[in-house]
Amino acid sequence: MQRFNNRVAFVTGAASGIGRETAIRLASEGASLMICDIDEQGLQKTFADCLKHKVKVAAQYCDVADYDSCAAAINACIEQYSKLDVLCNIAGIAQLKHFTDISVDEWQRMLGINLSSVFYLCQLAMPHLIKTQGNIVNMSSSAGLVGQAYTSAYCTTKAAVVNLSKSLAVEYSGQSVRVNALCPGSVKTPLSANVNFPENIDRMLLSKMFPMLDAAQPSEIAAAVAYLASDEARFITGAALPIDGGQTAG
Ligand SMILES: NC(=O)c1ccc[n+]([C@@H]2O[C@H](COP(=O)([O-])OP(=O)(O)OC[C@H]3O[C@@H](n4cnc5c(N)ncnc54)[C@H](O)[C@@H]3O)[C@@H](O)[C@H]2O)c1
Repeated sequence: MQRFNNRVAFVTGAASGIGRETAIRLASEGASLMICDIDEQGLQKTFADCLKHKVKVAAQYCDVADYDSCAAAINACIEQYSKLDVLCNIAGIAQLKHFTDISVDEWQRMLGINLSSVFYLCQLAMPHLIKTQGNIVNMSSSAGLVGQAYTSAYCTTKAAVVNLSKSLAVEYSGQSVRVNALCPGSVKTPLSANVNFPENIDRMLLSKMFPMLDAAQPSEIAAAVAYLASDEARFITGAALPIDGGQTAG
């Protein structure tokens, strides 16, 4: 499949996990890429792996929690390719904490990286996406669809990403810009592997977070990003698609 020939895609969180697999998947389908992250070493590795597909790739340091950094990255993309077709907001962090232990700084950091970033980049990209009748895929989570213990700040950001996506889908439907959210359950990436469990937790409450099936591979989530971003999903906008092994179905 070469669904992204002559398309330009902007991918955040591209140094690792789902963002990295998404960049490689889009490259394998012919996309020209602007890949972004704060992890420059990881970004260089993704850059090299995307280039193997003989597509155009540009890599840019971008702290998604910083508006000016986001603006510089979108400008760099337009300077490089003169257009933008697909925005994939994938960068994110997670933290497990008792609600009463979350500091104000931790709350603000979570909101900045997981939520304000999506506002910044959607707003900065929108004029360019209107020109190309492009689309946005925002990475939410099953934690954006249901409440989960010990992740209240994370859940808050991911639920907001779902409704921000739906709001934009409605507002820009007349201009043919599609906006969708993906809601993965557990995915085998450094983010899930490095999560630290707080002390004194009720493990029964946590059991609801784990799907009936095995965790997903990041490439399985990337495949869904590529589908939603492609013309095959022409009639899908405002969706929040769970990929969670049934975790949120019951
Ligand atoms: N892994 C899971 O189980 C899972 C489940 C549901 C949703 N998600 C979501 O998927 C997205 C990707 O997560 P992942 O599992 O691939 O994690 P990951 O840790 O493998 O990758 C996240 C990437 O985001 C980057 N990043 C962090 N802060 C940043 C910042 N300020 N600016 C730019 N980049 C930054 C990191 O450097 C890293 O490369 C996140 O939004 C996460 O919430 C993950």
